[in-house]
Amino acid sequence: MELARVLGWTVEFLQAAFLVTDDMMDQSSKRRGKPCWYKLDHVGLMSCNDANLLEQEVYHMIQLFFHYKPYYQKLVDLMHETTRYTAYGQCMDMLSSPPNEPAQFVLFTADRYNTIIKYKTAFYSFVLPVRLAMYMSLCNSQDEHKLAETILLKIGHLFQMQDDYLDCFGDPDTIGKIGTDIQEGKCCWPIVKALEMCDQNQRQTLDTNYGINDEKCVAIVKEIYHELNIQEVYTECEECIYNDICVMIDDLKFKSNLCPVIFYEMLDKIYKRVK
Ligand code: IPE
Ligand code: MN
Ligand code: MN
Repeated sequence: MELARVLGWTVEFLQAAFLVTDDMMDQSSKRRGKPCWYKLDHVGLMSCNDANLLEQEVYHMIQLFFHYKPYYQKLVDLMHETTRYTAYGQCMDMLSSPPNEPAQFVLFTADRYNTIIKYKTAFYSFVLPVRLAMYMSLCNSQDEHKLAETILLKIGHLFQMQDDYLDCFGDPDTIGKIGTDIQEGKCCWPIVKALEMCDQNQRQTLDTNYGINDEKCVAIVKEIYHELNIQEVYTECEECIYNDICVMIDDLKFKSNLCPVIFYEMLDKIYKRVK
């Protein structure tokens, strides 16, 4: 159990590294109820190297605690692969709305959105911890790793869709951060849904007001979301995806020895979350 906790901390360090850089890229102001790391006067751009340190400590910890284990190389390889996937996702996220350019609505398709969130969030937040634990418990079956990955990617999809919803509609004091997705022109769930549902006029209004760092423009975008009932659509979508995932988990017992409880626990932790 001590080793399992160390492995848990490595995921936490990796996540911290991603969040330090993510907050700079997204020009965010708060994280977990406090100023973002780069926002502190005594930190600033030093936060770039702090992110490097956090990332490298992952491999340092794995080496210190797991070097003699037969699955050592598997842990290291999975960390590297996951980090690469997250960087792909962050790259796609940023390229949807490059600096000093308007948001690229032609790119805001459901397909592209699904790919962005799969890579930037689902692999590192959900697939990684469970697959690490599987290696630690000497479960090496490729089929079981694939099966777990399929379910965990779907849970990760739900999680990021919720994150996008809360960025716009959540309570900043509860979520501990202040949304920047509209200002930053992000390809995120509310805008992708709105573009699917809106008429020509609404699309024009979204086009002129999305991705602009101005409170009035943000309010106009939110007004269109309101007209389109995006909040109700979200509640339906969340339930629908939740039910799909339950079916996938239920199916496990016919297909493998994987323990459904692990997946249900993760899913129930996030279903209907407000923070
Ligand atoms: C975060 O995506 C993904 C990574 C940190 C790799 P977001 O930018 O949407 O997440 P928040 O809302 O800032 O936490
Ligand atoms: Mn962010
Ligand atoms: Mn981001």
